[in-house]
Amino acid sequence: MKTLSKLRKMKVEGEKIACLTAYEASQAYWGVEAGVDVLLVGDSLGMVVQGHENTLPVSLDDMVYHTQMVQRKNHQVWCVADLPFMADADVSQGLAAASRLMKEGLANMVKVEGGKRVLSLVRALTDLGVPVCGHLGLLPQSVQLKGYQVAGREKQAAQKLLDDAIALQESGAEMLVLECVPASLAKTVTDRLSIPVIGIGAGVDTDGQVLVWHDVLGLTLGKAPKFAKNFLQEADSVQTALAQYVADVKHQRFPGPEHWMGE
Ligand code: KIV
Ligand code: NA
Repeated sequence: MKTLSKLRKMKVEGEKIACLTAYEASQAYWGVEAGVDVLLVGDSLGMVVQGHENTLPVSLDDMVYHTQMVQRKNHQVWCVADLPFMADADVSQGLAAASRLMKEGLANMVKVEGGKRVLSLVRALTDLGVPVCGHLGLLPQSVQLKGYQVAGREKQAAQKLLDDAIALQESGAEMLVLECVPASLAKTVTDRLSIPVIGIGAGVDTDGQVLVWHDVLGLTLGKAPKFAKNFLQEADSVQTALAQYVADVKHQRFPGPEHWMGE
């Protein structure tokens, strides 16, 4: 069902939320068939589809195009689309970008990376009726400045991340992605917030998990990240691999300790 209230209810009832990226119609179709609860049109498409080094070259036109393809074959599940790098540089640009993702792409929610910097945009979007997903921890759009590394390991950084998470929720965010943070910190944030928290490389105690389509099926271009798992290794079809991913998230068999990014 394409409603936020269903996702909120899942958090309250402790049913894990299975989220998967999708960038085009067939991925959306088979993701939905496998029973995912949320489809994310991530700007990771810059790397896994377009072949770039990182997500920075992805344009708003690209995001609209891929969201359109996904939504043509998704009539059932909540769809989140990323605001690409720099589309959130100021509030009016962010509003214009979200407008296109919602009106042309038919996204249900937009995702923005970062904490304090994006609070006014999150508030403005929420006031206009646009559901917003936050994204804290490792921020791929800040890779040039900070690299790819586990975030929130030190006490001060952990406290800042928790403060940012609370501020995002208070500004109206309805969901939060935590990427590559210690499992214990992810648990603290998940317990503290009333909105669903979806983890990637953040341990098993978040309200749900997200993985990139290519990582689930062993199609990563290069070395797979530590938090990923190739579900096709023990499955006889793409469909069973996707269904296994969903089942393993639901039963907390994924992620295992070998997929955590450290305590
Ligand atoms: O772009 C993406 O796929 C993402 C997820 C990894 C959370 O932002
Ligand atoms: Na992203």
